[in-house]
Amino acid sequence: MAFDTIIKNGTIVTAADVFVADIGIEAGKIIAMGTQLGPAPEMIDATGLLVMPGGIDSHVHLAQPSPPGIVMADDFETGTRSAAVGGNTMVLPFCLQQRGQSLREALLDYGRKADQACHVDVAMHLIVTDPTPQVLGQELPALIAEGYTSIKIFMTYDDMKLNDREILQVLDVARRHKALVMVHAEGYDAIQFLTEHLESEGKTAPYYHGRSRPVAVEREATHRAISLAEIVDTPVMIVHVSNRQSMDEIKRARERGLPVFGETCPQYLVLTEQDMRRDGMEGAKYVCSPPPRDSESQHACWEGLQQGIFEVVSSDHSPFRYDDVAGKLAPAGRRSFRYVPNGIPGVAARMPILFSEGVVKGRIDLNRFVALTSTNHAKRYGLYPKKGTIAIGSDADIVLWDAGRRVTITHDLLKDGCDYTPYEGLDVTGWPVRTILRGKTIAENGDVSSDPLGEVVTRTHKA
Ligand code: URP
Ligand code: ZN
Ligand code: ZN
Ligand code: ZN
Repeated sequence: MAFDTIIKNGTIVTAADVFVADIGIEAGKIIAMGTQLGPAPEMIDATGLLVMPGGIDSHVHLAQPSPPGIVMADDFETGTRSAAVGGNTMVLPFCLQQRGQSLREALLDYGRKADQACHVDVAMHLIVTDPTPQVLGQELPALIAEGYTSIKIFMTYDDMKLNDREILQVLDVARRHKALVMVHAEGYDAIQFLTEHLESEGKTAPYYHGRSRPVAVEREATHRAISLAEIVDTPVMIVHVSNRQSMDEIKRARERGLPVFGETCPQYLVLTEQDMRRDGMEGAKYVCSPPPRDSESQHACWEGLQQGIFEVVSSDHSPFRYDDVAGKLAPAGRRSFRYVPNGIPGVAARMPILFSEGVVKGRIDLNRFVALTSTNHAKRYGLYPKKGTIAIGSDADIVLWDAGRRVTITHDLLKDGCDYTPYEGLDVTGWPVRTILRGKTIAENGDVSSDPLGEVVTRTHKA
């Protein structure tokens, strides 16, 4: 057999196995696994390293239009550059339909932004904010058939929220055309009520962001989202789950046989609401929704990962610069937490944090790490087995991982377009040393290839 690249002597980890073998790659695909393969023009020595499927981060926001005056810190180039540095070979960003816009227009915009810019492969989810008869009746069914098989909806945010009737309408289209709806589950009215109350008491610092969205706000919306999905009889993914009570809603639904899936994120595993208490506006660096909770919530999220209640860990990378009037220090945000842009960067830190806090600390094993960071994302979003595993016929999307390397996370390591990381100073053990996309090295020891080799991957529609 002729190969253009061979990865030699590494310990291969998939969601099911751990074994030592060489990997033979030809034209971007894995075509052989065994011992004594080769030679090939490019020989990559993986002695002493783990060889895992490249990370797939199925929840990132890149170049997403934001409220007036606010600009997201990453475009497709910088966001995917950071993803590659963090061991990822694919991300699934969101195409946000702005109200009054058609989904096709929104996709054209994003297509232009992503074109020739991506360092890793991408596939877009849709965000529906304006479910007009045209969107529900024509655009969505057509786009689902073209492979846009996942749709995010919001239960909060002024310019994005759907009411229950609209949610049911979107869920119904998803059921009929076989798409998966991802739900941002926080209750709008309760957040408005609490925000006004806090502001009337002068409680406007970033810390009160968390107080305006307590666990009950998320739990209630999670319960409602699951109920609406049950009424329509269609699967849902509850994204960015932060706490035990919301997790228990998912658990109960699954015990009743409902196809309800869960995602959690590193911020709910290692940050708490105390981070939002930092001096002055520093707390704004940690403002995201749902907000980080407390150590018992962290513990619950780990249990959810161990028990399979959560099937994916995503970053929810949603970067806004800190020292910037178009970011976390927007003038209005100094008046009240309600105007601080929601979201934190994390696409590069996701895998190191889960590896260090999960595998190294004995909370999850290596196979589960691969499932949570890659395989399950590929399966759930229609990319498997092309993506998400190391197997003959799969794309050669691979991360070489030094399981013993100790690193203190600092922003400069992450190569994103932001100016801070919420994980600054976190010590981790285990680090990606080389990221390989379809057989080509795209990042090595923190340096990213100048050539963006990422492609837009079309998902095939199952119906
Ligand atoms: O605060 C967050 N999570 N911002 C990103 C958008 C979203 O809701 O996922
Ligand atoms: Zn269909
Ligand atoms: Zn969300
Ligand atoms: Zn998000």
